[in-house]
Amino acid sequence: MIMKMMSTLLSSLILSAAVLPPIASARVFSGQSFTSMYYDCCKPACAWPTYGSFVTGLKTCNAKDQLVLDDTAGGYCGGGPASSCTNQTPWAVNETFSYGYASIFIRGADSTEWCCSCYELEFLDSEIKGKKMIVQGINVNFNENQINWFSLAVPGQADWQSQCQRRFGGTFGDFFGKDATGFTNVTQCDTIPPELQAACKWRYTWYQDVKGPNATFKRVECPAEIVNVSGCLRTDDKTFNSSASNPISAVSILSPTSPFATIITVAAILLGFPQILDLF
Ligand SMILES: *[C@@H]1O[C@H](CO)[C@@H](O)[C@H](O)[C@H]1NC(C)=O
Ligand SMILES: *[C@@H]1O[C@H](CO)[C@@H](O)[C@H](O)[C@H]1NC(C)=O
Ligand SMILES: *[C@@H]1O[C@H](CO)[C@@H](O)[C@H](O)[C@H]1NC(C)=O
Ligand SMILES: *[C@@H]1O[C@H](CO)[C@@H](O)[C@H](O)[C@H]1NC(C)=O
Ligand SMILES: *[C@@H]1O[C@H](CO)[C@@H](O)[C@H](O)[C@H]1NC(C)=O
Repeated sequence: MIMKMMSTLLSSLILSAAVLPPIASARVFSGQSFTSMYYDCCKPACAWPTYGSFVTGLKTCNAKDQLVLDDTAGGYCGGGPASSCTNQTPWAVNETFSYGYASIFIRGADSTEWCCSCYELEFLDSEIKGKKMIVQGINVNFNENQINWFSLAVPGQADWQSQCQRRFGGTFGDFFGKDATGFTNVTQCDTIPPELQAACKWRYTWYQDVKGPNATFKRVECPAEIVNVSGCLRTDDKTFNSSASNPISAVSILSPTSPFATIITVAAILLGFPQILDLF
């Protein structure tokens, strides 16, 4: 009897987890995140039309910084023409507020959810504690698959496989600083192409060259200033409902670290999954 009740309970839990539509169950509009910086000259992932539902897509540029109009054009790092546009970089509005662009990973969410969404970040520690930014997601943080991570696109951070060097014709080893480190002082910003220098210096002025501050994030409607530069506007930009955010998704309930998931898994093995399904 107990066994039967338990298996009924378990099967309804397992089934309810299994039938939750992945997108609807994965709306994560706010939370806390690590932050860092990156810069590369590849085609940002969110510029591919499959990365979300867009009214207008993310702009990409060729090596001369002219717009590439075909959103299916091959990426620069794969030998194609589409590279990042030099103006998708941060700028300060005042002492406590900046705009920018980011490569994002949000646990429990999907890249089609954060591509070209805008988030207000509030820094929680270091010298920039209390400062805020609104950033638009332009890329997918492919290095991360566990914890929330916003990586700001800031020139002066290390190049990726010397692709910016190829694009701009820099000197090997020095251009955009050392691998995984980038520049170490503001005077180095004078060595990169003029159109990237102001954003490079932003790191040493507004951002105070802090290392990996944590931040809260909260989705907001994209400001015109940001969309004007990137070109990207999601179809749900005005209609998403931030109070419908669902941070406890099926993914986190069934994450391998959850004791609940372990109980379900062990019980499912003991009882046999097909047998459980038969109860319905
Ligand atoms: C900085 O700009 C933001 C956005 O326009 C504004 O909300 C905020 O009040 C400004 N802060 C100061 C100190 O001017
Ligand atoms: C900045 O860093 C470069 C490279 O490490 C070094 O050559 C230069 O002296 C530094 N400049 C200042 C002002 O610290
Ligand atoms: C960010 O948070 C983590 C743990 O949550 C902490 O280890 C790290 O030191 C924090 N970063 C800063 C710059 O304070
Ligand atoms: C949009 O960009 C154009 C050209 O760069 C500029 O003239 C205009 O003021 C911008 N509009 C907004 C709202 O930032
Ligand atoms: C937003 O979602 C909340 C929670 O699901 C709901 O109560 C509210 O009615 C929704 N608002 C709109 C405008 O849809």
